[in-house]
Amino acid sequence: MKIIVASNKETASRNAAHMVQDAIGKKPNTVFLFPTGSTPLPLYELLAERVKSGKLSFAHAMSFNLDEYLGIDVNHPESYHSFMENNFFSKVDFKKNSNNVPEANPKDPEKFCEEYEEKINKYGIDLAIIGIGRNGHIAFNEPGTSFDSITHVTDLTKSTIEANARFFKSEKEVPKKAITTGLKTISSAQKIILLAFGEDKAQAIKDTVEGEITEKVPASILQKHNDVTLILDIASASKLKKTETLPPTLSDIRLYSEFNLPKNKTIVVFSPHPDDAPICAGALVTALAKENTVHEIILTTGHRAVAKNCNSMNDRITTRENEAREESKILGTKLHFLRAHFYDSNDIEEEDLKKLRNLMKTINPDIALLPQKGDTHPTHILSRKIALSSLPHKVELWSYESPWALFGHKAFNAAFEFPKELMKSKLEAIRKHVSQTERTRFDTAAETIASFRRITIAEQFFSELGKKPIDTEPYLELFHISQW
Ligand code: F6R
Repeated sequence: MKIIVASNKETASRNAAHMVQDAIGKKPNTVFLFPTGSTPLPLYELLAERVKSGKLSFAHAMSFNLDEYLGIDVNHPESYHSFMENNFFSKVDFKKNSNNVPEANPKDPEKFCEEYEEKINKYGIDLAIIGIGRNGHIAFNEPGTSFDSITHVTDLTKSTIEANARFFKSEKEVPKKAITTGLKTISSAQKIILLAFGEDKAQAIKDTVEGEITEKVPASILQKHNDVTLILDIASASKLKKTETLPPTLSDIRLYSEFNLPKNKTIVVFSPHPDDAPICAGALVTALAKENTVHEIILTTGHRAVAKNCNSMNDRITTRENEAREESKILGTKLHFLRAHFYDSNDIEEEDLKKLRNLMKTINPDIALLPQKGDTHPTHILSRKIALSSLPHKVELWSYESPWALFGHKAFNAAFEFPKELMKSKLEAIRKHVSQTERTRFDTAAETIASFRRITIAEQFFSELGKKPIDTEPYLELFHISQW
């Protein structure tokens, strides 16, 4: 299972909308299986906006719905027919008769179920979008439903009736039966997206992802499917302990936050000068160090840049290395000093490379942070070069920007959004390099860049059709992620 955790449901729904758009882009006559409920509403709204602006069309697509209350008047505002019509179908451009919702009052419900299942099998579902109940139900397949179930009539459980009472005048009014596609029907979809938002879904999500595959948790059947993506907000993902999660992708930018970073990895951060790690990537490094082992490699001594109170080169080196030690305690890294000769000779020397290669052999990193390809500072250019030469070809590279060279348009593909508290520790870490900040306010530069990035990147990449950009934390650090 692929599990995407977004910092809020708006961002999550944007990611889902991209996936729907992708599906239609690849196959205009995509056959969908759609949910009702509160969860898909932001997604339906986004899709409707895209259709309105001409960016997306369902004109060749077809759909089935997961379920419908049995015995409800189809014109009742809470029938799933009304729900779909009011929230989606009336706002998009499906052709007439291409939307199938189970009948609410079929003459012979059993026969109707058979026909509905047959029709689904005839066309085949390309993309199922589903929600999940607090008890782990999907569609109206309540706990205990057979994994082999197909479209059938079902009794709703007390928990579902209670949960859905919010849509009716009273609990009494909630229908007690429904027609629902079965767990086998849903599993027949080529691709499944499950959306879940809010804390009251957290246990169901944990049971679905990390629990055993059991009919007691209907959604756990998804563990057996080979193309399932869960798109969650932080609250619904909050009980996942074991599972690695992914960031949402918006306009081809992966949007990382503290809640969807890599876990249990070995990471190296190459810092050309002693203070580059906190200046360029201090927030990300601090966040990564909480659930990974992070090694910070200070490549050069930076002795030339100490202005005050130091007569000898050794004193200057000691000053800078002591500052780095203080900073590393804040970031949470394990520190290594390379003292590379290329700092003074301006050329990579065999001895430096040998030392670094040996260090990489011992550390054996999964991920490496290093200056981006377009950095213009001579020490950063050489640092990237030596870092790459020392790394085995399996490492994931996260190239960062520095105040000397910001990324050009689309030269990055990932952003890390972070809150004020993390900016506070990033600044504290930068300010441990007193010999530097007393000459040049790198703290101010780093804070300004991160807040400028939040403003402009959000407007360029995280806004939708002239709407206000999605909410993110107030700061961004940018990265280009690639495979080495
Ligand atoms: C809806 C459906 C249900 C809902 C689930 C979550 O067609 O089949 O399984 O997806 O009950 O409902 P919400 O989204 O309202 O929390």
